[in-house]
Amino acid sequence: YSEEQEGVLQAYDWSAKLFHHVLKHTSDGKAGLNYLKKRGFEPETIEEFQLGFSPDRNEFLAAFLKGKGYKLEQLAEYGLIQSNNQGSYYDRFQDRVIFPIKNHQGKIIAFGGRAFKEHQEPKYLNSPESKLFHKGRVLYNFHLARKHFQKEKEVILFEGYMDVIKAYQAGVYNAVATLGTSLSESHAKTLKRYVKQAVICFDGDDAGRNASFKSANILRKAGVEVRVAYIPDRLDPDEYIDRYGGEYFKQKVLQPAQTFIAFALDYYKKDYNLNLDHDRIAYIEKALDIIATSEYPVERDFHLKDLEDAFHLNRETLIEEIEKRTSRIK
Ligand code: UTP
Ligand code: MN
Ligand code: MN
Ligand code: MN
Ligand code: MN
Repeated sequence: YSEEQEGVLQAYDWSAKLFHHVLKHTSDGKAGLNYLKKRGFEPETIEEFQLGFSPDRNEFLAAFLKGKGYKLEQLAEYGLIQSNNQGSYYDRFQDRVIFPIKNHQGKIIAFGGRAFKEHQEPKYLNSPESKLFHKGRVLYNFHLARKHFQKEKEVILFEGYMDVIKAYQAGVYNAVATLGTSLSESHAKTLKRYVKQAVICFDGDDAGRNASFKSANILRKAGVEVRVAYIPDRLDPDEYIDRYGGEYFKQKVLQPAQTFIAFALDYYKKDYNLNLDHDRIAYIEKALDIIATSEYPVERDFHLKDLEDAFHLNRETLIEEIEKRTSRIK
């Protein structure tokens, strides 16, 4: 880090400490603390993730940092506070629950502020990109999760940091999330250095399913094996854990996560009307494309058998088609 950046990191650290104190020990923080309790956060979790609260005041953090001798102009460049373009500065995250966002070395480089009142928009306000904070590169909780990658040989990938924290509370420590962007090639490359496999566990709605497919392809391209978890009833992982508990989450969601091939075979069905002959044929061609991307002969065989049975196909034809495709891939 440059000298300037060392200073900014220190300012972020002070700010997190201040917000954390406000949450726990002041009347300003009461509403935030109640919100977190209502959402099932335990005191240890609030400590581990250094959660905080930014009060409903214009110049709370700005005044504090000014008092510490920081140049507010510089901090505004890094998104810690806001400039009004007339030489004065105000707080960015007013009246929000604060989630510090750390880089992969564990240093705070940004904040996420969650709304906790009705009609408070947007739901999450994150710090803007800065020289220290690149959303396309950083993964939430990476610095803690990395210690568990070795043992688990896999990473759990969530959509939101709420999900990461709830999973942590349930004893799932090898989890990370992107920060309101989709998974990037850079994220995938980083993960590839640590794990063999990723379990994608996005929200159970259509958006989550589409994002799962997109992220899975990026991970596979980077050489990470992928499984995709399914959450019923369009729940978020965090809601599922609230409702059914951590053990159930591990047993019924993570453990039975589908292989990518099985997921993709299912995912593509929505594009075809399998009651129509020409759509059935097109789907079979698509399915063969997907199956051919598996590098495991047993896995290919396994799914070919399914196709053979489901569509009453000839074994030899299928094998011929797969061979055509795999020779093209190589
Ligand atoms: P979600 O809308 O799925 O939020 O967005 P969530 O994690 O389930 O949060 P809760 O449970 O409602 O509190 C997933 C991620 O997208 C980003 C955040 O990083 C969030 O964790 N996001 C979402 C934003 O940046 N801004 C928003 O307004 C919403
Ligand atoms: Mn603390
Ligand atoms: Mn969602
Ligand atoms: Mn949620
Ligand atoms: Mn969600």
